[in-house]
Parts: sequence; structure tokens; C-alpha cells
Amino acid sequence: MDYKGKALTGLQAATCVFSLIALILTVVNVRDVLLPPSTKYGLVFDAGSTHTALYVYQWPGDKQNGTGIVSQVGTCTVSGPGISSYAEDPAGAGASLRPCLDKAMEIVPAEQQRETPTLLGATAGMRLLREQNSTKAQQVLAEVAKVIGEYPVEFRGARILTGNEEGSLGWITVNYLLETLVKFSFAEKWEHPRDTEVFGALDLGGASTQITFQPGVPIEDENTSVFFRLYGTNYSLYTHSYLCYGQNQALKMLLAALHQASRSLQVSHPCYPEGYQESIPTAELYNSPCVRAPGTPSSAEVLAVTGTGDPVGCHTAIRKLFNFSCGANRTCGFNGIYQPPLRGQFFAFAGFYYTFSFLNLTSHQSLKEVNSTIQTFCKKSWAELEKSFPQAKQFLPTYCSVAIYILTLLLDGYKFTEQTWSSIHFSQQAGSTDMGWPLGFMLNFTTMIPTEAMEDAKVQQPSLWAGAVSFIVLAMVAGLGGILLQCFWDTE
Ligand SMILES: *[C@@H]1O[C@H](CO)[C@@H](O)[C@H](O)[C@H]1NC(C)=O
Ligand SMILES: *[C@@H]1O[C@H](CO)[C@@H](O)[C@H](O)[C@H]1NC(C)=O
Ligand SMILES: *[C@@H]1O[C@H](CO)[C@@H](O)[C@H](O)[C@H]1NC(C)=O
Ligand SMILES: *[C@@H]1O[C@H](CO)[C@@H](O)[C@H](O)[C@H]1NC(C)=O
Ligand SMILES: *[C@@H]1O[C@H](CO)[C@@H](O)[C@H](O)[C@H]1NC(C)=O
Repeated sequence: MDYKGKALTGLQAATCVFSLIALILTVVNVRDVLLPPSTKYGLVFDAGSTHTALYVYQWPGDKQNGTGIVSQVGTCTVSGPGISSYAEDPAGAGASLRPCLDKAMEIVPAEQQRETPTLLGATAGMRLLREQNSTKAQQVLAEVAKVIGEYPVEFRGARILTGNEEGSLGWITVNYLLETLVKFSFAEKWEHPRDTEVFGALDLGGASTQITFQPGVPIEDENTSVFFRLYGTNYSLYTHSYLCYGQNQALKMLLAALHQASRSLQVSHPCYPEGYQESIPTAELYNSPCVRAPGTPSSAEVLAVTGTGDPVGCHTAIRKLFNFSCGANRTCGFNGIYQPPLRGQFFAFAGFYYTFSFLNLTSHQSLKEVNSTIQTFCKKSWAELEKSFPQAKQFLPTYCSVAIYILTLLLDGYKFTEQTWSSIHFSQQAGSTDMGWPLGFMLNFTTMIPTEAMEDAKVQQPSLWAGAVSFIVLAMVAGLGGILLQCFWDTE
């Protein structure tokens, strides 16, 4: 073998070895960087006053701290009433959750279930039950905890949220989803978006309603004040939850007031459509701490309610459910509860959205348009409504009541005006994730929203990518060089 032949063999061998090493290293690195990171899951039961829903959330395992990363990948509505309705049958409350838990176990891969945080939060329905009999409320919670505990998940507890928590967690959800808390800037740093205002949150449930916003002035009543530090920014929020002012309890208060004013078992209802009739046992009307029975309701008494389709009378009757006097407070919402002046843009979700969406009022109509649409709808007879909306029968009798209740609450209660009306966005979802406290509950519980901005964790991500890409390019150049060199030697 001559000098050239020896050199060629040596070079070929070297190229082969080097290519092999480059190939192995490249594959290993590409695997680390390119394969999708394992997905993580979280489950939250929203145990509301009228029903319970289960939310399934998902996020990439290697990214937890940014906004907009967690998304909702499943929901399940528990059939039957809210868990507070199981006061006389606590075991039934637990059993009712099983079908949704089974469904969630089909969504979350088996190998991931044991590390899936699972929470149950109960709201105003359970607050009312606790007010009536705290032993019964405890029994219901113990039974739902027992059933969830039988599933192979990381169960983190079942409890009743306070009104302030419910309001603030809804606010966190809204601002997390809209990415107003933090953004990943081009300088590869997480920072609070400049000139971006956070959004206020308006929530209407069955048994309570919450208002939460950043007032920008000192909050004068510490019971309505919450303080957060998220991603290195301080937030001082006003929040209040009005118990009994959720839509179902408010309608109960309304009917009770009409009953007591009529002093008979025949009740004319201005918010119900003309021609609509309903019978309701007085015992059922007065079964909540939100309404006080005039005497001891006899179980045999039944109210005969007849709609009169009178929106003006309806508004007058609904206004009487509120006390608009501010008392010692300089500025207030209603019932003497302190509220600083409204500020900024608001998202109105849950009950606010459902009724306004049915009435086609969620696309930023002016207050004038909203008023006239509601007036027209409220004057339609029951026969006409049944014919026009055969699908919506279950809630059809109460849309008018709830729509006028919403207007009264927002305008007279929370003090929105014709000018500030356009700052309310009626919306249920951002992306495909529902607004409401459940997402905020999970984010806060799993500390996925850190108090400090985390520059290190995120900067690592692009540099890892850059490193991998440079390596692949280098390996390819080296391989190509080797091949070219080989060709050059061969042809000589
Ligand atoms: C509360 O519920 C418990 C359990 O059902 C019952 O034993 C108790 O008498 C109730 N208390 C009141 C004040 O009704
Ligand atoms: C968030 O979590 C912290 C720590 O667990 C807790 O102290 C705080 O009350 C929670 N915030 C809300 C709004 O629930
Ligand atoms: C209305 O609220 C004011 C201030 O909180 C209070 O002084 C007044 O007694 C309330 N009126 C009624 C009818 O409850
Ligand atoms: C809302 O709009 C849809 C589609 O235009 C229409 O079919 C429906 O009747 C409207 N609903 C109401 C309450 O007017
Ligand atoms: C998220 O932030 C927390 C608290 O700052 C930190 O402990 C955790 O490691 C971070 N997680 C990731 C994936 O960056």
C-alpha cells in the first residue's frame, strides 16, 4: 500500500468513527429536545349551588410558570343537583361524582393519574347549607372526599371557598387566560406587559355574585381587599361576593317579595311572560336562608304564579331586593357594602354570559340597544315564546327575569353607567378554556403562578434549542466535509 492509500484508509476510518459519534450524539440531543415533553394534568370539581362540573386541565410538563400554557381539555357535568342539595343524603353527593371521575380517568393516561392534582371547591350553595346546618355541610364534604379518594389521583382536598377567594380566583383566571399578568418579551425575560391594564371580573352564579377589580386607589374596607404578588408584580384588588344575589336565589327573593305583597296564594309575576303559569309549594320557596317565610309555611300550601309580562313592573320589583343607600360608606355597591369607583375593562361570565348570549347581546351592543331588546323580549307572550324557542324550554320562563336582574345589578348595584357599559365584555371562554374560579384555584394551589418573575427557567429554553441546532449543523458540515474529502481523494 502506497502513501496515498494509507492516508485514504486512515481518513476513511476517522470519518467513519467521527460520523458514528456525531450521529449518536445528534440522535440523543434531538430526542431530548424535539420529542414533546410529557403532558401533565389537573382536575377541579366546581361544586356550585345548582350543579357540579368537572374540569380537566392540561399543560406541557417542562413549562409550568408562563401564562396561557394551561388549557382545558375536558369538562363533565355531573347529573343531578348541586352537592348542597344532598343534605339529607350525603352519600348520594359522593356517588353523583363517579361518572365524571370515570370519564376523567379515560382522558388522563393511567401512568399519569397518580400525579394528577385533584381538587373540589364548593361555593355559595354550600355556604348557605353551612349557615343552615354546618354538620350537614361537613357530612356532604366528607362523602365527596371519600369518593374522590377512591380514585388513583393526587387528591388535594374538598372545601368551601370563601366569597373573597371565589372572586379573586376568577380574576386570576381571566387575567391568566388573557395574558395580562406577564408576557415573555423579546429580551427573553418574563415581564409585566407595559401599558396593559388588567381586567376586572364579574361572576354571576346561582347563589352568589362576585365583583373583583384593581381600583388603583387605596381600599377603605379591608374585608373587601386582597393582595397578590404574581410574577414579581403587586396587585391590590377589591373583591366582594354578595351571598343570595346569585340568579336563582335572587329570583327566590323576588317571588317571596311578590307573595308577601299579594297576601294570598295567587301571585301575579311581572317578570314572567304573559300567559305563563306555575305552581310552587311555599315550603320549597322558603327553604333557603336567603328568604324569610312570613309565618311557618304549611307543607300543603301551594302558590299559583301567573305571568303578566310587564318589564317596567319587573324592574321596580327587582330594585326592591336591593338597598341602594350607602350608609357610612362614601361609595358603595349595594346593601351598604363598600365599593371603590369602577375602573378599567371587565369580563362578565357564567350567568351574565348565559342569559345575554341567549338574547344575542354579547357583541358589544349599546346600553340602549340592550334595553330595547330586553323590553321587547319581556313583552312576548308565553305562547309566542314557546313557538319561537322550542329548544330553550327549561329556562325560557326566566330569561326575562334574569335579564332585568342583570341590568339592575350591573347599573344600580355595581354602578356601571351608559358611558362605562361598553367596558363590559360578556364572554364565557378565552381560547377553549372557561372563565371562572376553577382554573385560578388549580393554578394557585399548584403554585403554577409564582410570586417572582422567573428569568432563569425560561431563558434556558431558547439557548437549549440554539445549542441543539448548532450541534446538528456542525455535525452535518463535518459529515459533508468528510464525504467531499473522500471524493477528492478517490478521483485523484
Ligand atoms: C344538623 O344536622 C344534623 C345531622 O343531620 C342533625 O343531627 C342536627 O339535629 C341538625 N341541627 C340543626 C340545628 O338542625
Ligand atoms: C393561593 O394559595 C395560597 C397558598 O396556598 C393561599 O394562602 C391563598 O389564600 C390562595 N389564594 C386564593 C385567592 O385562594
Ligand atoms: C339600607 O342600608 C342602610 C345603610 O347600610 C341602612 O342604614 C338602612 O337601615 C338599610 N335599609 C333597609 C330598609 O334595610
Ligand atoms: C338570536 O339570533 C339567532 C340567529 O340570528 C336567532 O335565531 C334567535 O332567534 C335570536 N334570539 C333571540 C332571543 O332573539
Ligand atoms: C416555577 O416556579 C417555581 C417557583 O418560582 C419554581 O420552583 C419551579 O421550578 C418553576 N418551574 C418551572 C418548570 O420553571
